[in-house]
Amino acid sequence: MASTRLFPYYSYIILSLTICLLWLNAPMSQAHQHHRKTYIIYMGDRTYSNHISAKDFYLGMLSTILEGVPSKHTSEYLLYTYENFQGCVAKLTKKEAKKASRIKGVVSVFPNRKSHLHTTRSWDFMGFPENVERSMMESDVTIGVFDTGIWPESESFRDEGFGPPPSKWKGYCQTCHDNFTCNNKIIGARYFRANGEFTEDDIVSPRDTDGHGTHCASIAAGEAVKKASLLGLGHGTARGGVPSARIAVYKICWADENCWGADILAAFDAAISDGVDIISLSVGGDALPFFQDATAIGAFYAMKYGILTSSAAGNEGPGLYTVGNYAPWLLSVGASTMDRKFTTQLQLGNGMSLEGVSLNTFDDKSFPLIYGGDAANTSSENSSYARYCYPDSLDRTLVKDKIVLCDYFRDGEEPFLAGAAGMIIHDILPLDDPSSFPLPASDLRVDDAERVLSYTRNLASTPIGTIKRSVQVKDTSAPKTVSFSSRGPSLFSPGILKPDLTAPGVNILAAYSPIAPVSSVKSDQRSVPYNMVSGTSMACPHATAVAAYVKSFHPTWSEAAIKSALMTTAIPMSSAKNDEAELAYGSGHINPLKAKDPGLVYDIDVGDYVKFLCSQGYDEITIGYITGETSCCQGNGTNWDLNYPSIALPTSLGPFETVFTRTVTNVGSPYSTYKAIVTMPKDQAIVIKVHPSVLSFKYVGQKLSYTVRVYGTIGRRALMSASLVWDDGQHQVRSPIVVFNLS
Ligand SMILES: *[C@@H]1O[C@H](CO)[C@@H](O)[C@H](O)[C@H]1NC(C)=O
Ligand SMILES: *[C@@H]1O[C@H](CO)[C@@H](O)[C@H](O)[C@H]1NC(C)=O
Ligand SMILES: *[C@@H]1O[C@H](CO)[C@@H](O)[C@H](O)[C@H]1NC(C)=O
Ligand SMILES: *[C@@H]1O[C@H](CO)[C@@H](O)[C@H](O)[C@H]1NC(C)=O
Repeated sequence: MASTRLFPYYSYIILSLTICLLWLNAPMSQAHQHHRKTYIIYMGDRTYSNHISAKDFYLGMLSTILEGVPSKHTSEYLLYTYENFQGCVAKLTKKEAKKASRIKGVVSVFPNRKSHLHTTRSWDFMGFPENVERSMMESDVTIGVFDTGIWPESESFRDEGFGPPPSKWKGYCQTCHDNFTCNNKIIGARYFRANGEFTEDDIVSPRDTDGHGTHCASIAAGEAVKKASLLGLGHGTARGGVPSARIAVYKICWADENCWGADILAAFDAAISDGVDIISLSVGGDALPFFQDATAIGAFYAMKYGILTSSAAGNEGPGLYTVGNYAPWLLSVGASTMDRKFTTQLQLGNGMSLEGVSLNTFDDKSFPLIYGGDAANTSSENSSYARYCYPDSLDRTLVKDKIVLCDYFRDGEEPFLAGAAGMIIHDILPLDDPSSFPLPASDLRVDDAERVLSYTRNLASTPIGTIKRSVQVKDTSAPKTVSFSSRGPSLFSPGILKPDLTAPGVNILAAYSPIAPVSSVKSDQRSVPYNMVSGTSMACPHATAVAAYVKSFHPTWSEAAIKSALMTTAIPMSSAKNDEAELAYGSGHINPLKAKDPGLVYDIDVGDYVKFLCSQGYDEITIGYITGETSCCQGNGTNWDLNYPSIALPTSLGPFETVFTRTVTNVGSPYSTYKAIVTMPKDQAIVIKVHPSVLSFKYVGQKLSYTVRVYGTIGRRALMSASLVWDDGQHQVRSPIVVFNLS
């Protein structure tokens, strides 16, 4: 592979000499700004003449694109250039963007789109105790956390006992107007905002004002901190999965919780140059074609450098086709429950007690009850939405010091601002994700909420209620994919099973930014060093840590090998708990200890991904630009030939038959014999034949191939789950096999 370090220092010069983003804020000649938006011009891996600097190259290109801009002003329209792949970020009109897309060598031109941010107990629940076997190399592993930054003073990021950064580390700490400092735990920290748009809530440094980034970083690599809790809830030791690993911070999301594609791509570019080992990306947006999506492009180059990107599957579930971050070179992590849940009782004046969910840390006290629909502020434009407790809908005098019953899930901001003493939510969504609110609150099931309504309006002359402090109870149904976790298949490549696996993502206790509100309500003034948050955002850093743990034992493994280890050792989950089956949980629930020793791995190299892209309809020229190689869309490649550790077959109604080819690499004992064990759903018209059904290895690193013939008949809107396990008595290397018809 041709090196892509063609202008080695250039991006650094931009990003380091323009610390504080002064350059990015440079005033632009106002006259030329009209109708211009920020676009990413992506040019793949193509090489330029070494005689010309990147800046000159892109300026030359831009000068032919920009219309009505005097050449001396061209540079004002160039926001970023990338180093580890070819591309730049520029301010263009729609017409100019179209023009750019026709230039030879340009793979895609796409608008700078917004993405969004989608313990303690969790590691124990995963069977990964604090005293687990550790590799000496763990402290050489650096995790790049792409998020809202970090709160470096958190106890979770102390660096006592840490040596200097790993020798290959080339990153730095971008400090600025702020007192932000790195240490031997947080070895690098940078921030990105190409459009230079900051709000008054932003601190222009890698410091985290939101809490999300601090939370994710400490789940992955926080030090063990005893006696952590959210104001008494979830009391225990908060710890990351790889407490000796280093953290490199790439702040790409800001106080408005927007994360822009140009900045995500810049963070990948920087992380590759800095020398991170694993990237953790708890950010996502709408699913887009591979090469119009900053994350897919960035992660593709990270993959080329052996860096696995672990990403959140998204919080758009439980509908099908909601999974984001679906590229096969990404690890897509769904969120599942753990055996600890929180319930919150509402006691009514008539003695009735109703169990809801929330994270209520406030003390019990009785207050009168009122239905939001009976407390409308008639002089407000939103008065007709008072039953939903919409912003500016409630009458302050009516709700003051009362518990308000609100229809459907609300964040509690309006009752809180209106001076209410509490809130009861009549929720139509599944109650598997307790939230924090700025005031005492409990989220009730529909039938219970109707009881409260009837009591409040009809039964009692002076209805009163008490919202009790939440209690921790055992959840015997765990692990189960939580309802909000995005489901597959992906719209653009349904033949790759996504999400890949699940990890804990509900009520995870981890470090937080003390200047961020505890709940999602900005005016919530409570400040906590540890907070409990849910999301695939929280599941992702669990998987990141497990990938780092595997990497610490196997530093030379490719990103695909590490991912394979995580997937083939995952604990199967049950379709009895999740109707969407593998489309909800992929290979299953992550199993850190087993992942370290998978026996066999499904490896994939750049060439294999190229063949996959050919099968996705990318033409040879485009792929050539992307990979920098003259490729090779030979034969009739199909996406099921990608050596993926799981098997998915989207098919139309009726009979189906497909032969999949897979190749496993022995990473266990030199001499080992694996037998194929197939499990199939009973009473379903599916047959699976594996050939050969025995694989005998003679050395470590040996590769052997096999085929899986899957045939049968499928009905309308059906999904058949089967699996193949290669078993040598010591390792069970499992791949789910899913056939589905969704039309
Ligand atoms: C650094 O600044 C933040 C606010 O910007 C403040 O909360 C924090 O206490 C300061 N830390 C130190 C070590 O001075
Ligand atoms: C009315 O409610 C809507 C929906 O939540 C909100 O966007 C809007 O700002 C509210 N109007 C006022 C005046 O607060
Ligand atoms: C009702 O809404 C109006 C307009 O938003 C506001 O000025 C007023 O204070 C509110 N009245 C009460 C009693 O909440
Ligand atoms: C590709 O498929 C077509 C039709 O299915 C067939 O005619 C052709 O020979 C195949 N090409 C290769 C290289 O296998």
